[in-house]
Amino acid sequence: MKIVFSVGGSILAPFGVDENFLFKLKDFLIELSGDNDLAVVVGGGKPARDDIKVAREKGATWAQCDHIGVLATRRNAMALLNVLGDAASPKMPESIHEAGKLFGNGILVMGGTEPGHSTDAVACLLGDWVGADLFVNASNVDAVYDKNPGEFPDALPLKEVSIYELEKILAGGGSNAGEYPLLDHVALKVLARSGIKTLMVNGRDIENMRKAVLGGIFRGTIVHP
Ligand code: UTP
Repeated sequence: MKIVFSVGGSILAPFGVDENFLFKLKDFLIELSGDNDLAVVVGGGKPARDDIKVAREKGATWAQCDHIGVLATRRNAMALLNVLGDAASPKMPESIHEAGKLFGNGILVMGGTEPGHSTDAVACLLGDWVGADLFVNASNVDAVYDKNPGEFPDALPLKEVSIYELEKILAGGGSNAGEYPLLDHVALKVLARSGIKTLMVNGRDIENMRKAVLGGIFRGTIVHP
């Protein structure tokens, strides 16, 4: 299979890069790369949001703040690239076009590209570009809920959801640098048009992610195109 992962900064770099998680992720990706072509797009996490906050306070525009976020995601991506060593593709791409050309030549690792969207959108665009069989959104969230669990204590986790229902559930999410929702509108639109099967999983639990990808019973949500 061609599989594209979006690994949230919330799990790889909740404060700075979590080395313990980094090495577990490396082992999982190397195991999976034996039978599959992989790409991993890495998010920014708290370091990105801290950098964005400082820049905004100093008067940076939102697009400039997005760019600062992109640089933070690339810092995290470099950490993963370094531990993957020879198993990784030779270069960290900075655009979808470049990533599309490198895909299939080792485990492709990258961060963000342009201002205006999240690393989830980058992963979905890359999935669309290469004709991925599967998009795995690995975050610190256990599942998609039928409404915001922060606001509604009776919110229920969903085992399955259509991309159109998911668009409704996530409507009204933030669109400023560092504030994109679980999946931003670019990611949702690209998933809807490309029809890529999507799994939303808690990626901090690598065993859970393995079951999700390899077909076991897992904690998370399947998003149907
Ligand atoms: P993330 O996609 O990581 O955003 O990129 P996030 O919402 O903080 O998600 P987690 O915490 O990693 O899961 C960090 C910021 O970098 C900018 C955005 O401002 C984003 O919020 N960014 C990222 C871009 O502008 N373009 C990109 O291609 C990627």
